[in-house]
Amino acid sequence: MSISLAPSLLSADFSGLGDAARACEDGGADWIHFDVMDGRFVPNLTVGPIVLKALRKVTRVPFDVHLMIEEPLKTLDQYLDAGAGRVAVHVEAEPHLHRFVQHVRGRGVSPGVAINPGTSLASVDEALHFVDFVLVMTVNPGWGGQAFIAGSLDRIARLSESIRRVGSRATIAVDGGVGPDNIAPLVAAGARHFVAGSSVFSAGDVPGAIRRLREAARTPGTLRA
Ligand code: DX5
Ligand code: ZN
Repeated sequence: MSISLAPSLLSADFSGLGDAARACEDGGADWIHFDVMDGRFVPNLTVGPIVLKALRKVTRVPFDVHLMIEEPLKTLDQYLDAGAGRVAVHVEAEPHLHRFVQHVRGRGVSPGVAINPGTSLASVDEALHFVDFVLVMTVNPGWGGQAFIAGSLDRIARLSESIRRVGSRATIAVDGGVGPDNIAPLVAAGARHFVAGSSVFSAGDVPGAIRRLREAARTPGTLRA
């Protein structure tokens, strides 16, 4: 079972983002997750394309860009130009999802759709036919360090079943409150890509935390969170 891990820089020390990106690379991270927030779609305000572009020079790890912004088509090219390797846009923020996805794919980048905890899974039914992945939010977007929302595991299992039923090749990514205690049941429910912020950066040993997460993903377990 192949899974991928994407440490989220949102939980890193922002005075040393270059060091944080290098630590992710040392730990064998598959992706580095960028939480782009505009202070409108979510209340918080974080990084933009300038920061991506600067960090693109310090690591070879591909960038996983999570756009939590309104009118994402307006600035999409800036993120693609800055070196995004994959881009997830919120279904709640983009009425022209198909156009968005076509544009991302046309630039040789992998497109995904993100969905908030309170949004019906039915809202991504059509997208299952044209996205590479669905980023299931297991916290309300805006901040790192929040608790995994109970019930998300069942939601992922239901999405996994829908993907199978329609014959889609989309994979499931999970974002929010992911750690060694809940990653194995998430794998069992059908998720393959994991974003982890506080569980990677809070202990001070980033490579060690990434290794522990990978080991936990391989160890069958029940949800304790
Ligand atoms: C929340 C972000 C997440 C967050 C994950 O808006 O999308 O990527 O940083 O952080 P943890 O793992 O601490 O929930
Ligand atoms: Zn995120």
